Order: sequence, then C-alpha cells, then structure tokens
Amino acid sequence: MNYFQYNHNELYAEEVPVREIVSQVGTPVYIYSYKTLERHFKAYDSAFGKIDHLVCFAVKANSNLAILNLLGKLGAGADIVSGGELHRALKAGISPEKIVYAGVGKMRSEMEMALRAKILMFNVESWPELEFLNQVAGELGVKATVAWRVNPDIAADTHPYISTGLRREKFGLDIHQAISEYKKARRLKNIDIAGIHVHIGSQITQVSPFVDSLIKVIDLIRKLDAEGIGIRFVDIGGGLGITYRDEVPPSPQEFLQAISPVIEGLGVKIISEPGRVIVGNAGILVTQVLYVKRKDNKNFLIVDAGMNDLIRPSLYKAYHEILPVCKREERPRIVADVVGPICESGDFLARDRELPEFVAGELMSVMSAGAYGFAMSSNYNSRPRVAEVLVRGDQFSIIRERETYEDLIRGESIPAW
Ligand SMILES: Cc1ncc(COP(=O)(O)O)c(C=O)c1O
Repeated sequence: MNYFQYNHNELYAEEVPVREIVSQVGTPVYIYSYKTLERHFKAYDSAFGKIDHLVCFAVKANSNLAILNLLGKLGAGADIVSGGELHRALKAGISPEKIVYAGVGKMRSEMEMALRAKILMFNVESWPELEFLNQVAGELGVKATVAWRVNPDIAADTHPYISTGLRREKFGLDIHQAISEYKKARRLKNIDIAGIHVHIGSQITQVSPFVDSLIKVIDLIRKLDAEGIGIRFVDIGGGLGITYRDEVPPSPQEFLQAISPVIEGLGVKIISEPGRVIVGNAGILVTQVLYVKRKDNKNFLIVDAGMNDLIRPSLYKAYHEILPVCKREERPRIVADVVGPICESGDFLARDRELPEFVAGELMSVMSAGAYGFAMSSNYNSRPRVAEVLVRGDQFSIIRERETYEDLIRGESIPAW
C-alpha cells in the first residue's frame, strides 16, 4: 500500500499533484511519500509484537538524510556498510547504540570512526577482519561488540547479484566452521563476541528461505551455548521482497508469523535490517519523454532519465511499472523500449513494454523506485545527479538539490605540468 494514486486521471504523491512538483523542480526527479514510509516502517516494526527487537533500516537502500531522520524518529536504527553511511546515520540523528555495521571490507579509518561513535555492533565477515578490529579496538582502549556473519548456504530465489547466502559468495563465515571461529574469537582481548548475523539476499518473496536459515542459526546458538558462548543478539538481516509487478511477497505480519516460532523464547535481542520493504514502494522516479523514435518497426521512448539515475533495469533486468503522470483514456497502446540518453545499449528503463502511446514532452512515472534508486545513481556521462523531493500531505520539500555542472567538477584539478 502506498500513497501514489490517481485523482481525476492525474498522478498524485499524497495530496500533491506530481505535475506541480515537476513544474517547480524539473525532471528527472525522485519523489518520496512520508506517509508511505511511516506506514511501512510501523507495519514492519509492530509485526514483531512482544519480541525484543530493533529494526535497523538498511541505509544502502536509500541514504538521504531526510529519510534517515524520518525513520530514526519512528524508532529505527541503522544498518550501515561504510564510514560514509555511518556519517549519514549520525548526521540524521540516529543514535549510535542503534547502529550495526556490516560489510566484507571495513577499513581502519572506518573501524576507528565506528568504535569512537560507540555503535551497537560490528557484523564481522572474516577472521583477518576480526583480528584487525581487535587490534584497532586495543589501540583505542575499547572493546568491540561483534556478531559473526554466518553464511547458512541457503539459496534464495532472487537475482544472483542480490543472493548472498550461498557458500560460494564472498559474504560471511561458512556456518560449518562457526563453532571453532567463535571459540577463537572468545580469546581476543578487545572483542566481545555477542551475536550472530545472517543475511541471505534481497527481494525474497517467500518465507521458507528465511525460516530455513534461521533454523540453522538456532542450531548454532544451541551448540555455542553448550560451549559456554552466550549469544545476546541475533541479526536476521533484511531481504523481504516487494511487489514491482505481480510478485506476492509475504506481508511483514506473515513474515513474522513464519519466523516467530523459530526465534521466540531465545532470550536474545532480534535485530532486523530491512531496506527495500520500507522504502521501495515509497518512491517514484519521474522523467520526461524527450523524443519518440521509430526504427526497424520498433518504438523507442527516449526519456531524460538514464541508467545513471536508475540502474536496476540495466543491472538486474529489474521490472519497474511505468505510468503516465496524466492519464488520457482514449489513446492507443504501443510496445516500446523506454531508453535514456546514456551512450550504452544497456541504458533502458523498460524493454518491449506495452504502454499507452506517450508523446514527446509528456511526464512518465517509474514506480517502486525508492530503494536502490537514487542510492545507486552515478554521474556517468557527466550527468548531474537528480533532485529528490519528500511529500507530506499537501506539502513538499526538496531533500536533495539537483546537482549542477560545477558540482560535477568539484575537487578536480588540472596539474600545472
Ligand atoms: C547485510 C545486509 N542487510 C540488509 C540489507 C537490506 O536488504 P533489503 O533491502 O532487501 O531489505 C542488505 C542488502 O543487500 C544487506 O546486504
């Protein structure tokens, strides 16, 4: 459920016509709905019921300060993967004791920053990383609270680039080696080994892979307990899918109903790291049709947003619904590729898509673009990154200015020689 709806054939973000935003901010533009974000977060958070838990929003999905601040005020913590994301989360007002830090390649400066900020926990992915963290924590005279990220070797039915829970992937520790690694970790002076972290992938639309991986985690907790290693935190990762087209993912309630019997009564705090399910359907990308081109019996709608603005279709062949900002009932339908201005054949937002016959100058809304949209955008082809707008009721605010050509060359210089 989201708050992008037609009213008299005109697309609205909550109570604001999308056309009005475009007339002030231009295109392409990402537009987010406050009410949708709030609704999604509350639905997810409340699904845990009485289970002792903390929802840490996955900053990688959407890292805009205004969005992080909004979620923080609703009680969210942050799941971060870099010093930059830590900087953002802290600037947005998220308290450090609600921040967990994952990622296979944490650098010294990032570890120091997180230790100084006193974050809740590091999700550690390899023995060399743990040894290094132990050394860095020792140098700062502090102890790092750590969860091992275990790789449960579970196949999640999703795009291979966003499946992370298989043994062959770079993530985590082989679950079969976990006991010995926990025992070794216990001997490190500056490490408090307190948790288990698992994340099996993203855009997962069934509950069974989550349940299967948690069963393995629970088995591990019992074995660790028998070794005298007490676990206080179980971080169940993110990954719950959303509807882009016709997928029917479990609702947060259904998700919790399925996993509760496994995680209840463990006497641990459950940490969860949702990204897409909170923000995916809370954002759209609005673009303008520049030209309509017909070539070799094929229609191309050339729009002003490219793969640098939304890379998901090019990278994952992801489907995003495309809607006209102003509906006109009577027009014919065509099959077309929706392509951007980038000099790559892979620059498309949709391929062979049946659509209403758009005309040049018309506005188009690319739906479900709130997660991994702006966050994955780039300046490729020296295109300034687009503006972001947050709507709340009948008001809207620019939460990120459109970049300028000067922004593009900031920090660059031509050597005197
Ligand atoms: C460790 C970790 N946690 C959480 C997430 C968020 O996943 P999603 O946006 O699918 O909920 C990701 C995404 O890749 C991740 O790698």
